[in-house]
Amino acid sequence: MALKRQAEPEPISGCPRHVAIIMDGNGRWATKRGRPRLFGHHAGARRVREVLEACPHIGVEYLTIFAFSTENWKRTQVEVAGLMTLFRRYITRETSALVASGVRVRFIGDRVRLEETLTRMMTNLENATAHNSRVNLTIAINYGGRDEVARATKRLAEDVAAGTLKPGDINEETLPRYLDTFVLPDPDLVIRTSGEARISNFLLWQSAYSEYEFVDTLWPDFTRAEFESLCTSYGERDRRYGGVKA
Ligand code: IPE
Ligand code: IPE
Ligand code: MG
Repeated sequence: MALKRQAEPEPISGCPRHVAIIMDGNGRWATKRGRPRLFGHHAGARRVREVLEACPHIGVEYLTIFAFSTENWKRTQVEVAGLMTLFRRYITRETSALVASGVRVRFIGDRVRLEETLTRMMTNLENATAHNSRVNLTIAINYGGRDEVARATKRLAEDVAAGTLKPGDINEETLPRYLDTFVLPDPDLVIRTSGEARISNFLLWQSAYSEYEFVDTLWPDFTRAEFESLCTSYGERDRRYGGVKA
């Protein structure tokens, strides 16, 4: 994709270390243009690169994006199949740029329901970028916070049954080790585009103390400038974690 030449992004003071984005509004963006919803999804996928490229410059170490929820299977077969094709195409097109630009890619979500061609590509991309550390991109596909907690609880129960974990040792530190995000820090900032002010089952455990930004922009219109401005506002926020301001 040809990007417009923009000045190199500057480091942001107090920049969030981990930003998670609910990329919403692709369908409405397409409908407004009299085009099929998938047209919006393709336009949305093209926005990811610009935001990702800004991250290491401004100070974001982890970017996590919500691409497909456990509830999105309710959509038409045409839309679901189109999205799966888009994910495969994204991986094929972006792999060399991701490897070359030092991005470490991880996927979260339940892979069991995904087609094998796609899961193989996901694993290959994770392996191809496993030695990168400039910025961490996590893509949530067939991800649901409740489903993740349920899957984690199942594995935890298996460890208890096998005797490798004592019930008395289950606490706020041990439980998240069973989540898909076990290697990631909690998100500092969660952004949702498209004007909807809801979480839609995204990172339920992990975002307990995250800051939220709900913006009206539809995801295919979201720019690097808006991303940087939200990260700047985050730097001015006062996170108290239940305490009292000093
Ligand atoms: C977000 O855009 C992308 C996915 C959920 C896959 P939507 O497809 O939800 O777009 P709207 O909300 O219908 O506009
Ligand atoms: C959330 O958007 C999921 C993704 C962005 C992948 P949805 O469009 O699926 O959420 P709802 O249905 O508006 O809550
Ligand atoms: Mg939506």
